[in-house]
Formats: sequence, structure tokens, C-alpha cells
Amino acid sequence: MSAVIAPDAPVLDEDPFSDANIADPYPLFARMREMAAAVFIAPHDYYSVVRHQEAGIVATDYARFTTAGGVGLSDIRKPGAWRTRSPITEIDPPDHTRVRAALQKVLSPLVVKTWRDKFLARAEEVADEVVAKGRVDGVADIAEAFVLDVFPSVLGVDVPPERIKLTGELNFNQIGPNNARTAAALERAGPIMEWYAQVLGREYMLPGGFGEKIYQAEDAGDFEKGTAQFQVRTFFRAGVDTTMAAIGSTLKLLAENPEQFALVKANPALIKGAFEEALRLESPAQIMFRTTTGEVELGGVRLRADTKVGYQIGAANRDPRQWADPDRFDVTRQTTGVHRAFGVGAHVCIGQMIARLEADSILGALIRRVRAIEPAGPARWRPVNTLRTLDVLPLNLVA
Ligand code: HEM
Repeated sequence: MSAVIAPDAPVLDEDPFSDANIADPYPLFARMREMAAAVFIAPHDYYSVVRHQEAGIVATDYARFTTAGGVGLSDIRKPGAWRTRSPITEIDPPDHTRVRAALQKVLSPLVVKTWRDKFLARAEEVADEVVAKGRVDGVADIAEAFVLDVFPSVLGVDVPPERIKLTGELNFNQIGPNNARTAAALERAGPIMEWYAQVLGREYMLPGGFGEKIYQAEDAGDFEKGTAQFQVRTFFRAGVDTTMAAIGSTLKLLAENPEQFALVKANPALIKGAFEEALRLESPAQIMFRTTTGEVELGGVRLRADTKVGYQIGAANRDPRQWADPDRFDVTRQTTGVHRAFGVGAHVCIGQMIARLEADSILGALIRRVRAIEPAGPARWRPVNTLRTLDVLPLNLVA
């Protein structure tokens, strides 16, 4: 007899990864949140957990929601999986605890602090260039120009920016379904896959980068031999596109909300609030998956055993049960540690202070130099299965 007596989660026959839902996911998220805490997505055979409280439970309760099946939609333990395992994100405690502690040492706050001057210097350069131009693309000229320079340099890899974009797009499509978007990304990245498999190897690490330190940690026996390359790959995948996406979205929201820009201009301490609020409203990582270890009751509904469960960050971060006026961009809102954009629990983002330092550096340098940031044409979102990121953001910077 089943131990769980709650009713089955309601079923949705719609595809959250359709073109229309990827372009604007929020109307669907609002409908799903009203249906239940978890909704079964029939076209892809997974549960989507859309309310803030239950999303937190899925992310933290690894005994009932394991990462061993992978943080993507495909179960990496089963034949036909289209992703390979990450040796940090796709293991549960207690094994995860040891690996995480070793990596935490490599990325300690003291280490990150030493990058501050490098980030600030590059931020000043980028800000000077864009303010001189006036009319710019917030994605290519600001977010990408900054992150694609500083992040690979502290990781200690020499990778051409256009290749980083191809592999990032592939990764965030592959976390979702194996659909036309994933196939197209695979085709675009096809010619560089052999290069990608090698370029994060030990011999390619530049001296002094934290990539090199990850290999040294492996040599010291801090985690399993042979996994350092996959650790470096995880950092590379997780750290670049997310940060560019969040900086782009912050610029868009500041441009569209001049009264909020005025608050930040008057009090630069609010730059942090603007970034966190953009993370909440346009969460770069939109969904991360777990797998049920048995039949589970969650928020009053029953979930089947051995089934994928996505905690839908983009929906949880606009849940009116958690946030007053959830669709409003409010730079004074207290969200740090409450929004789910960096995840929560054992796997909470290990690079969040790096992302914050990057954002603070570039947004600070820019806002110091301008009186206003104005939209200069329609912004366009890039269609990627699980990443909320802009393709184009025309801006007018008023010095
Ligand atoms: C705004 C930027 C970023 C966002 C939105 C973001 C988002 C996330 C989220 C949601 C998770 C949790 C995944 C899960 O629950 O399965 C995570 C984990 C992770 N992030 Fe970030 N991230 C960002 C920046 C970075 C940076 C800069 C780095 C690189 C240093 C990084 C490295 C990682 C790693 C390695 C994990 C896995 C941690 C673990 O499994 O213990 N992230 N991130």
C-alpha cells in the first residue's frame, strides 16, 4: 500500500519549452503556481515545482530529491542520457561535502578579494569605452566585454570569447529537453567539441588561476583522482553565462525603471540591491533538476518515485506567497539569501561572491559616469532552454 495519500500532482499538457513560453515564461508560471505547488509536465515527464517554499525543499532535501540522477532533465544514470556527470553538482552529501570543502578552499573569500583590483581596472576600461560611445549594446559592449575578459582570466584559461558563447549555449540547452534548440546548439558547437574536451586539461591551465589550483587540490588527494578536469568544466559552465545574463538584465531593468535608477544614482550602495532584484526577476538559471528517491508528498500533492523534479527558479522568485508585488523591480527590496537565483542548500552557488564582485565592479563604474541609462530600441531575449539571457539590449548612456 502507498504511504503517500495526497492526491496526484495536476497534469499540464503544455510545453514550458515552447518558443512562446521561453520568450515570456511568466504567464505560464502564474497559471502553474495557481494549480499546485508541483505540476506534472506531461510532454517531458517531469514535475515542475513553482512555489517558493517547495522549490526550497526540492533544492535542499537530498534524501528525497537526489542530484545523483543529474541536475538536468535527462537522468544521467539511464541509457540515452544526453549529459555527463559533474563531480560536484551531481553528487549528494556526504560525498559532496568533502568535494565542496576542497573547492571552497580554492575559492575562499580571501582568494576572491585578491581579484578585486583586476575586476575594477577592467570595469573602468569598459565603462570609459561605452560612455564615450553613448549608444551601445548592453549585452555585447558591457556584459560580455567585461565578464568574458575577467572570468576566464581568474579561472586561468585562454579561450576565445565566441567559443565560450557556443559551449555556454549548449550547456544551458542540454540541462533542458533534447529538443530542436538543443540539437541546433549541438550542431553549432560540433566543430569545436574536440577542442573543448581538451582545453580545460591540466596542461592548458595558466599559472596562478584557480583552475590550476583545482588540479593541485586533486594532486593533494582532496577529491577523486581524474575528476579535476570535470570540476574545471563545471566552473567554466556555471560561471560565465549566468553572470553575463544577470548583468544584462540589471541594465535592462535600470533602463526601464528610471525612478529606480535615480535611487541607485543617489545611493550607490543600492547597486547591490539592483543586482539582487534583477536576479530575482529574471533569474539566469531558470530551472535545476533533482530525482525523487521514492514516492513523495510535496505541498499537498503526490509525486511518483524515480521521476525528475525541476525546481523552477524563475517561478519561485515571483511567487506572490513570498513577495509583495512580485513583478515590480524594487532596488530597496531585501532579497539576498531569500531569492532562489543562486539555489539553496548543499549545492547553493559556490561562485555567488564572484558574480556579485563582478556586478558591483562593472555596474559601479558605469553608474558613476552616467546621468541616465535609456532604452534605445527593443531588447531581445536569446532562446535557450534553461537560461534567461538577453541577446540584444540597445541602450543610450547619458554622460
Ligand atoms: C549570477 C551568476 C550566477 C548564477 C545565477 C548562478 C546560479 C547557480 C545555481 C542556481 C546553483 C545551484 C544549482 C543546483 O541547485 O543544482 C549554482 C551552483 C553552482 N555555481 Fe553558480 N551561479 C552564478 C555564478 C557562478 C560563478 C561565477 C561560478 C564560478 C565560480 C559558479 C559556480 C557554481 C558551481 C561550481 C555550482 C555547483 C555547486 C555545488 O554543486 O556544490 N556560479 N549556481
